[in-house]
Amino acid sequence: MKFNGKNIWITGASSGIGEAVAIEISKHKTFLILSGRNEEALKEVAERCQNNGSTVQVISFDLSSEESVLEAADKVLSQKIKIDGLYQFGGISQRSFVSETPLAVDRKIFEVNFFGTVALTKAILPWMIENGGGQIAVTSSIVGKFGFPYRSAYSASKHALHGYFESLRAENVQNNIRVSVIIPGRIKTNVSLNSLNKNGNPHGQMDEGLDKGKSAEWSSRKICRSLQNERKEILVGGAELIMVYIRRFFPRLYYFMASRVKPL
Ligand SMILES: NC(=O)c1ccc[n+]([C@@H]2O[C@H](COP(=O)([O-])OP(=O)(O)OC[C@H]3O[C@@H](n4cnc5c(N)ncnc54)[C@H](OP(=O)(O)O)[C@@H]3O)[C@@H](O)[C@H]2O)c1
Repeated sequence: MKFNGKNIWITGASSGIGEAVAIEISKHKTFLILSGRNEEALKEVAERCQNNGSTVQVISFDLSSEESVLEAADKVLSQKIKIDGLYQFGGISQRSFVSETPLAVDRKIFEVNFFGTVALTKAILPWMIENGGGQIAVTSSIVGKFGFPYRSAYSASKHALHGYFESLRAENVQNNIRVSVIIPGRIKTNVSLNSLNKNGNPHGQMDEGLDKGKSAEWSSRKICRSLQNERKEILVGGAELIMVYIRRFFPRLYYFMASRVKPL
């Protein structure tokens, strides 16, 4: 799908990968809807997108609240515009061991990463189908392909996205719904700072590995190229992506490596 002249809704647009993708797409003279919770940050991103020649609307909402998701969807649907792309980057990570994490924190991570994404998709899908189809992208992680210490609920919520959106794709091929699952490795953003710790509070620290990761800008260019080519899975990152193949082809090596990995 070429971006020019298209209407594209981007969640997680206030920061990191979603922000960088919004800026990149805005160079193609699009109509963008930018979402996240932080309205101030969204307005700043919107201004930069407008300076690139795109038209932008900011609609803030909280992925962890179904009511808030549906309210945002209503605001968009009431405008009766075709939604060509729904690109979802909104998400939250985790830095806590299974043994110390209350179920409430696991649920919170699932509410944002899985149920929030699913709720928004379900709200928009019928309208997309009615309008002849569209592209839906969701953001998983390499730990959506294998488990990783300190990320149990995060990894599980990302695994769940694969199952859900592969099913959605298979059900909707005839409806011209194209699904892309974005699978980042280590991208230098605020994701570790914003991760939830065992108390459900922000972890507040930059991971050493993440600090050495690819930039959000570099990643956004790869993601945008792959979205335009409607790739079903979009792996983006550096050398760490090899872990996906090690898990698939050399599982015993993966079990060994995962058991010895430093969590941070
Ligand atoms: N960076 C990496 O290495 C990496 C690796 C694998 C996967 N990912 C995934 O990539 C996506 C983007 O992450 P990032 O690295 O760009 O991190 P980030 O800088 O922390 O951005 C996360 C985005 O998600 C939004 N968000 C978080 N909680 C939300 C909520 N309750 N309601 C609505 N929006 C919410 C944030 O907006 P507000 O704060 O304004 O709400 C922000 O725009 C996430 O799904 C993440 O899991 C990242």
